[in-house]
This record gives sequence, structure tokens and C-alpha cells, in this order.
Amino acid sequence: MNTSLNKSNEKIFITGGTQLKGNVRISGAKNAALPLMALSLIINKGFTLSNMPDLADTRLMSNLLGDLGINVSWSFGKVIFNGSPKTNEASYDLVRQMRASILVLGPLLASKGSARVPLPGGCAIGTRPIDLHVLVMEALGANVYYDSGFIIASTGPEGLKGGLINFPKVSVGATESAIMTSVLAKGKTTIQNAAQEPEIVDLAKCLISAGANISGVGTSTIVINGVEKLYSVVREIVPDRIEAGSFAIASSMTKGNIEITHIRPEDLECFLKVLKFTGSEIKIDKNSIKVISFKRSEPYDIVTEAHPGFPTDLQAQYMALMSISDGNSSIKENIFENRFMHVPELLRMGANITINNQIASIIGVKELKGSKVMASDLRASMSLILGALAASGSSEIDGIYHLDRGYEKIEDKLSNLGAIIRRSK
Ligand code: EPZ
Repeated sequence: MNTSLNKSNEKIFITGGTQLKGNVRISGAKNAALPLMALSLIINKGFTLSNMPDLADTRLMSNLLGDLGINVSWSFGKVIFNGSPKTNEASYDLVRQMRASILVLGPLLASKGSARVPLPGGCAIGTRPIDLHVLVMEALGANVYYDSGFIIASTGPEGLKGGLINFPKVSVGATESAIMTSVLAKGKTTIQNAAQEPEIVDLAKCLISAGANISGVGTSTIVINGVEKLYSVVREIVPDRIEAGSFAIASSMTKGNIEITHIRPEDLECFLKVLKFTGSEIKIDKNSIKVISFKRSEPYDIVTEAHPGFPTDLQAQYMALMSISDGNSSIKENIFENRFMHVPELLRMGANITINNQIASIIGVKELKGSKVMASDLRASMSLILGALAASGSSEIDGIYHLDRGYEKIEDKLSNLGAIIRRSK
């Protein structure tokens, strides 16, 4: 896959109205893979990740690490990392394409004693500052300043020292930075008000199996005692709960019957409860769920929250479901200040949605109608795909390079379930 976000005019065409049936295997999670890949900067001997999703974002991270001097080799969903960083400066051309590149700052600093990382580029869903990542570096004794669009961090001769990191707000990325930067720091680090997402738990478990000393992960207080070095490990990436949730909504919106396999249902507890309230039948098994829908969904209000609350990464997809529900509902977006970019496009399909500040009020319509629409970000693109699958007639979805950032082989998976879908080259 070509890593530069090919903003070419590839489009997806969908003829809606088909009931989706069958089973779909979920890929490894993008949001687990990206921080795990950054560990290759501090685990230098034969670090292997399996169940790696082949996405624009994971290929981009792979190139960013390669550019820093890590030897990265891909084969059939397995990625092997070798070597240590040869430079402390991350490439501007790569970092500006993906916000998650900020995750290399801490491990690079821990490995090289200094790091120069370009400020991440803009993002459609919010301003997304990185102040909490800088707070982490400073709490561990680094000197940090900005110069010519770069974050420049360096430690004194004694290196990073354990400290207290008390987050004023919950941040997934900053919690991951804190864990990755403090595992090799001298002494004890305490992280307070930490995020508790399953991807963070998986990152810590990987580090523990590499010899790190971490306790309390999955709670809001994490304690880390620095160790001398980390050992090579082989780790399987956890399933993508957001991809799984997206397919669950596809079943609900098309009165479908889909079995979603290779997942951890416990990672979707809150979401599945909500989907049940909307009237879909949900059968939960150890590593799979079956979502069956016989009728139009019931309206149900949600607010997005940090885990274990309703994930913001399923908000746009859930809104598509509510747009054809049998009544009125509301969605409050608490995490990002500008995550309703899919609304004007759903309106093109005949949805009835109004926005007031961070609250969307949805009056369910009987049916959406196929239209030409434009995706503005990753989850918005999936929301439009779901709208098009449920709509009468055909839709043309533009801006799908966003989709390729986070959904692996989406057309194949949907057409295997009976969807009439194709991508134009
Ligand atoms: C992660 O982003 C995910 N990305 C996002 O998924 C997800 O939406 C988000 O967590 C929340 O669950 C990856 O894991 C790669 P945050 P992250 O730091 O870490 C503010 C997707 O669709 N904040 O938890 O960047 C921030 O602006 C993506 O797959 C600061 O103010 O999210 C936001 O309002 C989109 N200062 C809030 O905190 C900081 O230094 C939560 O952001 C950092 C964040």
C-alpha cells in the first residue's frame, strides 16, 4: 500500500437496501497497533507484532520508524522490528500526515536522550493540542521547547527520572506517552487521571512481558518503576473494537444478521448495551457477537465519554443509525469539539439532524436516499458508508482516503455480507 495519503479522487459506489448477512472477521486494532509500533524505539532486539492491520496509518507509522533507523519488515500480518533509532529527528513529511506520530516523542527521548518531533498537522475533528504529551516529558525531567514547528525535548546527563504525572483531563495518547516514556526512567512514576482504554491495557501488558514494571493499568492510577532494559517480545494486536462496532451498526441499519468474529465483546460493553436498547438482538459469545435486526431501530440518547463510556469513535456511525430510528434522539459529543462533520452529508441523504453546540438532535426518518457525499474524517466516512447501505438508490462517496486509514479491506468485507459496493480507481 502506498503510504502517502493518496488524496486522489477514488470513490466508493454503493447501491443500498440489501439486508447484510453472514460473518465478518475483525482485523487488529489501529489504535492498539500505532503505540505498540512506537515501542520498537525502546525494544531493540527482535520485537514482533502479529495480527497487524494493513492500513494507511500503520504503513505510515512503519515508514516513520524506518526513517528513524528501525529495520521494519512486513509479512502476512506480522511485522518484525529490529535495531535502535539512528537519529533523534522525526520526518516532517510523515508526521504532518498523522496525529498519532506524536507517540514517537517519548520513546525517542527515552532511547536517544533527545528528540526533535514536528508538531502534528491539523485535524478535522478538533484542535487536538499536544500540551499533555509535553507535560509528561517535563514531569519526567526533560527540558522541552518549541522551535520552527518542532517540539524539542532533551534530558540532562542523568537521563529521565520518575515523577508524578497528574493529568488535568483524560487523554488516551498522553497516557500512552507517559507509560512508554517512564518504563526506562530512573525511579517511580505515578500517573493520575489516566485513560483506561483497552488499547492502553494492551500496551502495558506488552511492556510487562518485555520486562517492564507496571501496575494499576486499566484504572485511573498507574504506577511504573523504571527498569534498566526491555527484552524482545512477540505480541498479537488486540481486535479492533471500533471496526466491530461499525459492522454491528451495519447489521442494525440493514435489518441484517451478521456474526462478527475475532473480537473481545467485553471491550464493547457500553456500546452493546446501547445497541440492545435500540432493539437489535445481540448474541454474545467468547470471541464473537451476532447482531440481528428485524425492525426499525428505537431512538436512544447517548453521550460520548472516555472508556468504559460510549466511544467517540463510534459516534458518527451511531448517528447514522439514529437518523433512521423510529423517533427522536440526541447525541452529545464530549471528547472532540468538532466531530459532527458527517451531519451535513447525512442531511444530503435526507436525514433530519440539527446541531446546537456539542449536541446533535436527530428526528428519525423512514428512509435515507442515496446521494453524492464527501467524507471529512475516518469515522465520518464509515457513517456515510452505513447511511448508503441503508438508503434507497445509489450513493457516491468521495474522500475515502480517510477510510483507508482505519478500515482494512472494507469493500471485500461488506460485499461478502451481500452489499452492492465498489471502489472506483
Ligand atoms: C485517541 O486519540 C485515538 N487515536 C482517537 O481515535 C480517539 O478518538 C481518541 O483517542 C479518544 O478516544 C489513536 O489512538 C491513534 P485523546 P488521542 O488524547 O490520543 C484533548 C480514530 O478515529 N487533548 O484521548 O489523540 C484532545 O484534544 C481516532 O481512530 C489535549 O487537550 O485522543 C481531546 O479533546 C480519532 N491535550 C481529548 O483531549 C493533549 O495533549 C481526548 O484526546 C492531548 C489531548
